[in-house]
Amino acid sequence: MSEIVKFTIDGKECQGKKGQLIVDAAADNGVYIPVLCHMRDLIPAGSCRICTTKVNGRYMAACTTPVDEGTVVENDTPELLDIRKAIVEMLFVEGNHFCPSCEKSGNCDLQALGYKYQMMAPRFPYAFERRELEASTPKIFLEKNRCIFCKRCVRVIKDDQGRSVFAFKGRGKTLQINIDKKLAANLSDEMAKKAMDICPVGAILRKEVGFVEPIGTKKYDHKPIGSDLKNIYQ
Ligand code: FES
Repeated sequence: MSEIVKFTIDGKECQGKKGQLIVDAAADNGVYIPVLCHMRDLIPAGSCRICTTKVNGRYMAACTTPVDEGTVVENDTPELLDIRKAIVEMLFVEGNHFCPSCEKSGNCDLQALGYKYQMMAPRFPYAFERRELEASTPKIFLEKNRCIFCKRCVRVIKDDQGRSVFAFKGRGKTLQINIDKKLAANLSDEMAKKAMDICPVGAILRKEVGFVEPIGTKKYDHKPIGSDLKNIYQ
């Protein structure tokens, strides 16, 4: 049986399992720490850094840092909120995110975080990336310009033999998300839907079922991100 440890988040006394990741332990205690790349029970990627917190006085990603007895977490401070806002701004300028024309609008975690942190004009210059749209597979459009490199699709969408349908190609500025056309040819409707659902932005869209979800019924149409702690990781 896992050892139960006590820790605090912004002074609130919490309990969790020793070694449990801080984001998960926080959610179990009713505290929202934003995530983009993290999903519960998945090997952490620690790539987006939106979950940056202070753990025992040091800046740490809460999705890769385990709790221990007496851990002191700072989460909701003006400094950390501004760091997260800057990260959201960076993600927006790094890709091409045109929310009004994006099918994922209302279901997009990045957009919802933009609202949460009241992002207006980003403090960074736009990169104006132009990455090719990949539309040659039967069930999926891959809009690479919206990818935030969270690696969720790479870690989750696999074929029967455990081979990833999605993969990264390139490095640094040339890094892009790609789809294996052979594996994608056999993707079921269910897996295509899952790929779209786990993508925190609008980079993965299903073909032939565009805009089926009416405006007003989407995840963040009525409640801001972080309101439903049971479903923050989808
Ligand atoms: Fe922690 Fe992305 S959610 S680094």
